[in-house]
Amino acid sequence: MATIKVRQNGPYLVEGDEVTLVDWNGNADWNGNAYQIPKRPFALCRCGGSTTKPFCDGTHSRTGFAAAEAAVPGSGEKPAQ
Ligand code: FES
Repeated sequence: MATIKVRQNGPYLVEGDEVTLVDWNGNADWNGNAYQIPKRPFALCRCGGSTTKPFCDGTHSRTGFAAAEAAVPGSGEKPAQ
């Protein structure tokens, strides 16, 4: 099982040993080229400022990245619109 945690004012933290991160190069089966994962769990940039995208390099903390999104309790059980 994989879990993606949205860190407050930070990256997406991806937890799970069975997670593969792939790019857009692929075929109709969505098989892209896999990134080498430096360590687990790993963090994906959400602020857009990382120089090692798609991974977080800590730039968000130096730039003061602020994000307001948070999950609404119970909303995960409703279908997406
Ligand atoms: S979220 Fe960390 S560098 Fe972008």
